Amino acid sequence: MAGQKKLLRALAGEKQDVPPIWMMRQAGRYLPEYRATRAEAGDFLSLCYNSDLAAEVTLQPIRRYGFDAAILFADILLVPQALGADLWFVTGEGPRLSTITTESDFAKLGPASDIHETLNPIYETVRILSRELPAETTLIGFAGAPWTVATYMIAGRGTPDQGPAHALREENTALFEALLERITEATIDYLSKQIEAGAEVVKIFDSWAGSLKGEAFQKYALEPCRQITQALKERHPGIPVIGFPREAGENYVGFAKATGVDCVALDNSVDPEWAAANVQVDGCVQGNLASRHMVTGGQDLVDDTRRIVEAFRNGPHIFNLGHGITPDADPDNVQLMIDTVRGS
Ligand code: CP3
Repeated sequence: MAGQKKLLRALAGEKQDVPPIWMMRQAGRYLPEYRATRAEAGDFLSLCYNSDLAAEVTLQPIRRYGFDAAILFADILLVPQALGADLWFVTGEGPRLSTITTESDFAKLGPASDIHETLNPIYETVRILSRELPAETTLIGFAGAPWTVATYMIAGRGTPDQGPAHALREENTALFEALLERITEATIDYLSKQIEAGAEVVKIFDSWAGSLKGEAFQKYALEPCRQITQALKERHPGIPVIGFPREAGENYVGFAKATGVDCVALDNSVDPEWAAANVQVDGCVQGNLASRHMVTGGQDLVDDTRRIVEAFRNGPHIFNLGHGITPDADPDNVQLMIDTVRGS
C-alpha cells in the first residue's frame, strides 16, 4: 500500500502515525477566496452548476492547506431538484423546496433515470477535478442519504426536529417509503456517475439520522445506506464508501458491518475513546473535532485535536471535524488544527 494516497490507505484499514485530514465544508464562506468566487457565480446554486467555478472552489482549500482529500463542491439538495422539485436558497435562512406531502405531489417527480440531464454539470466538475488535483489528494464524491434528503423534500425546508417527515412516515407510510425508494434509486445512479467521472471515494451524508430511533433507524437510515453501498460495490468494486449517520449514538456500533461502508464518520457528540473501543474495532473511522474550535482556536483546539488523534492512534483513522466548518470560523484556526495533527 506504500504508493497509495494517504486517505485511501486509511480506508483500506491501515493505521498511520499521522492520519490523513480533510474537513467537511472545507470550501465555504469562512474563506475569502470562496466568497469572491461565489460572488462571481452570482448565487450558491449557480456556483454548484458552474463546473469551472465549482472545481475552482473545491481546489481553494487544497491550495491553501494541502488537505489529503478534496470533496466535490455541490449540495445534497441537487438530487431533489433533478427529480423535479423546485429548489431555491433564501439568504441567511437556508434552502426552500416545493413540498411533498400527498400522492399527487409525489406523482409530479420524474423517474430516477431522468436526473442526469440536470446533474451533468456536476459530473463535469468531477472530471475537471480529477485532472487538476495534486497526485496525493483523494477526490471524494457525495450525496445525501435518502432519509435526510426526504426530510427537506417533505417539509420544504430545514426543520429542527424533522417533524413533517416523521408525521408523513407515521400517517402515510406507503408514500413515505415510495419517496425514500425513489431517492435511493437516484442516489445510486448519481454516485455511480460521480465514480465514473473520477470520484475515488463517496460519502453518504445522513445529517438527520439521529432523529430516527430503534426500528425506524434500522429501516430508514441503516437499510437505505446498505442498499446504496451494496449497489455501488457491485457496480464499482474497490471504491470505498464513507457513511455519516450523524448523531446515531449507540447506533454507530455495528453500522459499518451492517451496511458494508468502509468507514463511519463520527459527529462530535461521540466520545473518541468510546468510539475507538466500540466503532473503530470494525474498521476506519472519521472525525470528530467540534467545529466550534475553528471559531475559538487556542489551547482548547490543540488539546482536543491531540486527544482525538491519540484515541484513534491504534487503528485506521481520518481526521475531520464532527460537522461542517461554519462561516464565522477563522482560517488561521484551520491551520493550527492541521499543524497539530501533522505534528509541526
Ligand atoms: O463539504 C463540502 O465542502 C462539500 C460541499 C457540501 C455543501 N453542502 C456545500 C454547501 C456538502 C457535502 C453539503 C452537504 C449538505 N447540504 C448537507 C449535509 C451535511 C450537513 O451539513 O449536515 C445538508 C443538510 C445540506 C443542505 C444545505 N445546503 C443547507 C441546510 C444549507 C444552508 C445552510 C448554510 O450553511 O447556509 C446549504 C448551503 C450550502 N451547501 C453552503 C455550502 C458551502 C453554503 C452556501 C453559501 O455559499 O451560501
